[in-house]
Amino acid sequence: MKPNEVQTESIYLNDHDNQIDNQSDNYRFNALLAVCCSRRSVLKGSLMVAATGFLSDSAAANTSVNPLVGFTPVATNVGNGRMPAIAKEYQYEVLIPWGEPIQPDGPAYQYPPSAKNQAQQIGIGHDGIWFFPTEVAVKDNNLLVADSETARGMLVVNHEFGRNETVLGREQPESLEDVRTSQHAHGVSVVEIVRQGKKWVRVNSKNARRIHANTPVRFSGPVKNSALIDTPSRNAPLGTLNNCANGYTPWGTYLTCEENFNGYFGASNRENDWVPSPEQARYGLRKNGFGYGWHLFDPRFDLSNTAFQNEENRFGWVVEIDPNDATKKPIKRTALGRFKHEGVAVTVGKDERMVAYMGDDQRFDYVYKFVSTESWKVMIKKDISPLDEGKLYVGKFNEDGSGEWLELNVSNPILAERFPDQASVLVYARVAADLLGATPMDRPEWITVAPTGDVYCSLTNNNKRTKPNPANPQVPNKDGHIIKWHDADAHVGSKFRWEVFLIAEESHSENSEHTYSDPDGLWADPDGRLFIQTDGGQKKGLNNQMLVVDIKTKEIRRLLTGVPGDEITGIAVTPDRRTMFVNIQHPGRGDPTITNFPAAPDGVTIPRDATLVITRKDGGIVGS
Ligand code: FEO
Ligand code: CA
Ligand code: CA
Repeated sequence: MKPNEVQTESIYLNDHDNQIDNQSDNYRFNALLAVCCSRRSVLKGSLMVAATGFLSDSAAANTSVNPLVGFTPVATNVGNGRMPAIAKEYQYEVLIPWGEPIQPDGPAYQYPPSAKNQAQQIGIGHDGIWFFPTEVAVKDNNLLVADSETARGMLVVNHEFGRNETVLGREQPESLEDVRTSQHAHGVSVVEIVRQGKKWVRVNSKNARRIHANTPVRFSGPVKNSALIDTPSRNAPLGTLNNCANGYTPWGTYLTCEENFNGYFGASNRENDWVPSPEQARYGLRKNGFGYGWHLFDPRFDLSNTAFQNEENRFGWVVEIDPNDATKKPIKRTALGRFKHEGVAVTVGKDERMVAYMGDDQRFDYVYKFVSTESWKVMIKKDISPLDEGKLYVGKFNEDGSGEWLELNVSNPILAERFPDQASVLVYARVAADLLGATPMDRPEWITVAPTGDVYCSLTNNNKRTKPNPANPQVPNKDGHIIKWHDADAHVGSKFRWEVFLIAEESHSENSEHTYSDPDGLWADPDGRLFIQTDGGQKKGLNNQMLVVDIKTKEIRRLLTGVPGDEITGIAVTPDRRTMFVNIQHPGRGDPTITNFPAAPDGVTIPRDATLVITRKDGGIVGS
């Protein structure tokens, strides 16, 4: 069996987001309700769209001189090698592999790293990423400012996770030093990069920094002073964990999202015989976590240590980072709720209000939306963060294609009966969403907002689904799908219309040259393309991949394939979109007999997570 044939999902350490922590009646109730919704009718709708798309593809190929997606796709039979493959009009270079110093003159990569060095080096598990040009001010509502001369900026990248076997070279930590090494490999890196000729390189920078599990952070928003994030030991808040996907704001900051934070906690039971509370169970906290063993040496992560009661409530947030000021602490923005945040797609809605769409990536968990109280510009002028004051909603997808955003507000009698205050609603957002009757989804991963205002969300898979619901029609959902919705009232209202956009299974026909499974990373560009990144077992022996879709015609082409055992995730562009940054996460699952990327195949060099810098050979826009 080839390595890529045994590849499952990136979440291989344990069954993390494949677990089902939603045991609410709501989940079962929705599943029952959904029986009324004929799977056939939903699928029929999507097949009709797909068929239309196919016809449009042909029409587009015949009639369009400059198709939106015009590159030569990576052929299915070449996308399975030990090194990445890219469309022939494109090229890639490797930047910031795991272990490179964040300052060029910092401690050089050595395997395995020491805790001290790892805190000054690029972390592992590259995921969400964004580029902040230093030479161009972000203007008004424009999240992307066109400037073809941009050649310097801060690159910020999430480090989601790395197994002990890879980071430490053994399954279990044997000391606090081992735990610190693992903790320092997680978090976020901020580096400064400059284009020299055609090559992007790191430069020394006063704002380059590592943020990891022990970096001082602060809380803001409605939960800031809640007893639910205080501990008996009164320890200062530290760190960010399992930083998955991301977002960025119109005012130039980076948002990192804490996903499977639960897996780093465990119970040593030295102090008491810990059993999870219902709320802890709803967030997946378990005695042995995911096997990292941090709780054995660091009491902060020991659920049975009463001195650190509530420490776990300090994780599961969206965290704001200023890429241009390393002296500022990362800020946990509690108004956006606590769950397993995959990513945060920020857009500017009616009245210049800031809107953030977010997925909670677990089987049968939900899609959320946050809307700031007033114009983000007005709030910034008043020195109030638009991320601190606003309304949080959870999505309900109806059978007739309508949808509702249900507000998570303690003034709702259903929530008032269960929670004493709004802070509790936000800390236990999953429980509140259960009570309101949100629609259980097939693992919401990335969300992206297209210039048309349409919002796209990947639902990566759910092989435990036994009953369909309107927005999750496949039983089981082996290969995932992408839905789209359009909010009434320019993103700020409580109603939307939704439809299924793509079903991955429909790409698997024998002659298909664009087969893909398990959509995860998504990015809609300003021209009408949707970039899709995959994380899961691909068909036909393919490695994980990135494809580009013309949203209108649904013509889809494969731009990039990775290496065996990896995941392709994270996407960022320079403002001119002539450079794209994409990550190869957990190549070979750390096993040098599978791949040695980015080193040439030699069977022994430990593979390293890294960023690919992607450009068109003719200097054109990436995706064209
Ligand atoms: Fe970190 Fe759900 O991907
Ligand atoms: Ca993901
Ligand atoms: Ca995934």
